[in-house]
Parts: sequence; structure tokens; C-alpha cells
Amino acid sequence: MANFSHSSVLLLITAVLLLTTTTFTSAEIRSIDIRSDSRSNIPIDEFGFTHSGRLNLTVTQITLSPTPAPDLSLIGFYLCTLDACPLRVQQIQDGDIPCALQSVHVKPVFKFNQLKPDHNPTHSFDISVKVSDANLFSLLFSNCVPDLKVSMDVHSVMYNYNPKTGQLDYLSAGKSSLPFIYFLFFLVYLALGAVWSYTLYKNRLTVYKIHFFMLSVVILKALNLLCEAGDKSYIKRSGSAHGWDILFYLFSFLKGITLFTLIVLIGTGWSFLKPYLQDKEKRVLIFVIPLQVVANVAQVVIDETGPYGHNLETWKKVFLLVDILCCCAVLFPIVWSIKNLREAAKMDGKAAVNLMKLTLFRQYYIIVISYIYFTRVVVNALETITSYKFQWTGPVAAELATLAFYVFTGYNFRPKVHNPYFAIDDEEEEAAAEALKLEDEFEL
Ligand SMILES: *[C@@H]1O[C@H](CO)[C@@H](O)[C@H](O)[C@H]1NC(C)=O
Repeated sequence: MANFSHSSVLLLITAVLLLTTTTFTSAEIRSIDIRSDSRSNIPIDEFGFTHSGRLNLTVTQITLSPTPAPDLSLIGFYLCTLDACPLRVQQIQDGDIPCALQSVHVKPVFKFNQLKPDHNPTHSFDISVKVSDANLFSLLFSNCVPDLKVSMDVHSVMYNYNPKTGQLDYLSAGKSSLPFIYFLFFLVYLALGAVWSYTLYKNRLTVYKIHFFMLSVVILKALNLLCEAGDKSYIKRSGSAHGWDILFYLFSFLKGITLFTLIVLIGTGWSFLKPYLQDKEKRVLIFVIPLQVVANVAQVVIDETGPYGHNLETWKKVFLLVDILCCCAVLFPIVWSIKNLREAAKMDGKAAVNLMKLTLFRQYYIIVISYIYFTRVVVNALETITSYKFQWTGPVAAELATLAFYVFTGYNFRPKVHNPYFAIDDEEEEAAAEALKLEDEFEL
């Protein structure tokens, strides 16, 4: 293990440096700098409003080139719902209207002909609009003047006002219960950690190193959830994460690496089947750990840049690719173990014991695949098909699946005085060793 611990420490340092030098924009308050952009539509952000929502938009340093622009009413910001946005595109394609800002399906926020005449070469404006139809809205910038380049700094704040409590809620409707949900899961993992510690203490004679490693994975997961709850709750109340996001990314990173390492280690049977790792098994770890670093950096960029961030699609592809590679890589050791056990069963004749191990590893293989499939595919599908009001269901489904995976892994690989799997194995192994020794002595 020594030769790759160096490289992983280096990678860890690189990742921490990368994360700390990233400029963090707080999640629901968005600041975007647009430079010499002639796109006809620039999406800024999206947000789920309740009946008492508000958008505050501050735009500074506006410069248009070439100056005097022919028709300023063709430039501006607007809101549209996910249902209405496609209609607007259709209208333009049909030639009914020249510009999205004129569509009846959108809600104009500010047109540039409202800009006050100014002696400065740059303009700015500040506007606050009430949104009272509860829906998921996209905020977009539209520029329908051909070849006109726009530069400006956009700062948008969207929030809902709770008339009952008088409090502002900067989390999109449907995500507003996330702080509470994450805190609940934090408590569950805390309890799980306590149960596991108690189990380790009670069975301290049959505990392997991997069991302590499992404890650290549970603790990291709990801390990760606590930071996520803190992050979301600060954003909910103030629109900014107050540094909780950095802690959250740090623990996500540590949790990701330890979880994948744990799946590999259990797959190889390390510490309870054999005390060492084969070279090819080490290679899987050397492969997975750097990929996890990349996956985490991609995740940070995706989270921080918002739904319409720069290069978002590229980062999403990077994350998907790396994630798929990691998920495939962790399956290899399990497959190797299954193959070895099958061969051993044929060779040494201890069919009963080997069959038991084989069943356990086959089950584990299926559970790992189901876990990966559910958290990657099903959760994504759920997030796409559910209405914005139920955006919390995706994270809840993912957390429940993860919890089930942790509980299954812990339960099946728990230390146990009378674990038939380990006990028979040890006894038979000892008996066989004893028999061999006797045989040797007899011959001498
Ligand atoms: C949004 O703008 C309105 C009107 O200017 C102001 O009263 C309100 O405090 C602003 N809200 C935030 C969160 O900045």
C-alpha cells in the first residue's frame, strides 16, 4: 500500500487546493458576468416560486457595441415557466414574433428601453418584481438585435416570502425542506455509528481492521450530511452558505473516497479472507482514488455554477464518465473473489464453506450493482419526472438507497462470535492446519 499512499496524499492536497481556490458563489443568489456576448438568449438561473415570490435583479456595467443600438426594446430580461418557454421558441420559429420578449408566454422583467439616459458610457439598473403565480421559472436574457454584443454584470436574487412566519426563504419551492431532511438522515447515521461502535465493542475479539474502516465511513457520511444540512439551512435563511459548502465538499470528497475504497476492500475480502491485497487489487484502488478526486471537482463546479453555468455540460459529462468508470472498477475485485472462491470450491473439496462465501459475495455483487443503478439512474429519472414542488424526493430516494446499502453491508459483514461464515471458516482452517501438522510429524 505504501507506493500509492504517496500519490494519494499528493492528490488530496491538490484537490483541497483546487477547492479552496475556487471562488464560491452562494447557491441561490447568482452573479454572472457577461462579456461581449451576442447570443440571442442567455439563461441566467431558475427558481421555484410560491405565491409570494420575488426577484431582485441588479445589472451594472452595461455596455452595448456597436452603440447606439437600433431598438432597445428588443433587449432585456424575462421570466418564463418550463411549459411556456418552448412555446416562445415555437412562436419565433413560426415567424409570429421576432423576439422572445414580445411573446405573450413570457413575463418581461426589464427592457433596455427603460434604461435612464445617462452621460456615462456604462449603464446600470436595479429592479424588484413580485412573482405571484406559483411555478418553476427560468430567468433569461434576450438580445434580438443581430450582431449586437452585450457586456454586463448580472446579480439576481430570487426568494419566497412566507406570509405566516414573515421569513424569507431562498431555497426554491420543493427544496425548502431539504435542511430538515438532511439533518434527519444525519441523526440516523449517528445512531448507526453508535450501533456499530457497540457491535465492535461487544465482538472485540472477532473484529477485523475493515470493521473500523466501516465505522469511519459511517462517521464521514454523518458529518457529510450535517454539513449539507448546515449548508442548505444557511442558504435557506440568507441565500449564502457561509462556508458550510466548503466543509460539505471536503466531507463529500473524503466520504466518496472511503466508500469506494471500502467497496473494493470488501470485494477483495481484505482482512477477513486474507490479510494482504494483490497487485491487481491495489491497481483498482490506484485507479479509483484519482478518479474520485476528478469526480468531486466536477461535482463542485456543477453545484456552484448553477443550472446554466459556463461549460456545465462538459463538467456533467466529465462527472458521468468518471463516475461510470469508478462504478465499473469497483466491481472487478468482487468478480475476482467470486471466481477464486468457485475455483477453491472445486479444488479443496470444502464445498459447504465455499458455497456460503460464494453466496455472500454474489449477493454483495448484486447489491453493489443495484445501489449504483438506483442512485445514478433511478434518482436522476425521479428528479426529471417529478414536478418542481417535489424536488426533495430525488435526494430522499438517494439517501434511502444509500442507507439501505450501508445497513446491508454492515449487517452481512458484521463481526460476530458465532458468525457461521467466519466461525466455520476459521475452525475448518485450523483443523486442516492441525491435520497437516500431525501428518508432517507422523512422517518424520
Ligand atoms: C429586494 O428589493 C426590494 C425592493 O427594493 C427590497 O425591499 C428587498 O429588501 C430586496 N430583497 C432582498 C433580499 O434584497
